[in-house]
Amino acid sequence: MGVDLKTEYLGLQLRNPLVAGASPLTASLANLKALDDAGIGAIVLPSLFEEQIVHEESQVGGLGDIGAESYGEALGYFPPMDNYNTGTDHYLELVRSASESLSTPVIASLNGTTDRGWVRYAKCLEEAGATALELNIYLLATDAAVTGAEIEERCLNVVRAVRAEISLPLAVKIGPFFSSIANMARRFEEAGANGLVVFNRFLQPDIDLESLTVVPGLELSHSFESRLPMRWLAILRDQVKCSLAATTGIYSVEDVIKQILCGADAVMLASLLLRHGPDAVAGLQRRLSAWLEENEYRGVRQMRGSMSLAKVPDPSAYERANYVKNLVAYSGPHI
Ligand SMILES: Cc1cc2nc3c(=O)[nH]c(=O)nc-3n(C[C@H](O)[C@H](O)[C@H](O)COP(=O)(O)O)c2cc1C
Repeated sequence: MGVDLKTEYLGLQLRNPLVAGASPLTASLANLKALDDAGIGAIVLPSLFEEQIVHEESQVGGLGDIGAESYGEALGYFPPMDNYNTGTDHYLELVRSASESLSTPVIASLNGTTDRGWVRYAKCLEEAGATALELNIYLLATDAAVTGAEIEERCLNVVRAVRAEISLPLAVKIGPFFSSIANMARRFEEAGANGLVVFNRFLQPDIDLESLTVVPGLELSHSFESRLPMRWLAILRDQVKCSLAATTGIYSVEDVIKQILCGADAVMLASLLLRHGPDAVAGLQRRLSAWLEENEYRGVRQMRGSMSLAKVPDPSAYERANYVKNLVAYSGPHI
């Protein structure tokens, strides 16, 4: 008898925990079908951005209270997105056709940082047939006059505003820079999140020394980066009831297994799929089944969270004591 790869995420039953994370790969119906055929558990579409919605609304003059008047930058230049989601109409069409033609759940994605009128698009995505919605709050606090408490309230208000628009399951993709991630996780849940996606991977700009300009730095992730979500999933697992998904640096079956052991209900793949294409899914799924079988697990649900902070014999390994132990234990050629 085979092992059971099924998992529950956002109240949805997924055939397995492998989810295609938001990226340009999930922008084409052909890729979505290939992912579906390869057996992916669910798909997150690339985000529709607040700035994009506001910009488009300003172009057609239908501003209403969507909020464009208060966005200097949105009224100006917005980058062409021909290879990305190419605009709200195209995006809604992608949601519609994907939901109709795929057997796997289709999670639409909104990306924004205010609770203004743009959040009404959440309703449009629901009406277009999305199975669930992922809200990415990509907010970097840079103003020294704004307190952490204000930033937290702002993030929570975005979630409340989107929640009020839809009855779909709602996942919130959060960053790792809150002072108390566990407290924020709980408050996101109270604000209406059915799941948290841990974590946003903030892109780090670079400096071009020739032109002395700041240049965007989009590099695909590496496997070692998966330690950040892994540790926090372990910490969050027993402190929130909502679903948890891991994103960042998940490449190998070992990466997948570790995230689930720590508490992930779903594991998101973006860089892996951008590097190797949809075909990477089938192998990962096969290896996950084989590992479960070899290690005598009945399925994913049984192993999920079994190495969370509350379950491991030495919780300090996830906490500060581990830090001290590691520093003291370091040895290298020069010491
Ligand atoms: C080219 C590219 C485009 C992305 N676009 C989005 C997006 O539209 N919305 C979003 O929430 N995340 C987006 N992401 C972030 C990924 O979904 C993912 O969270 C991140 O890349 C970390 O996962 P990975 O290590 O598997 O790449 C993008 C990532 C890449 C590399």
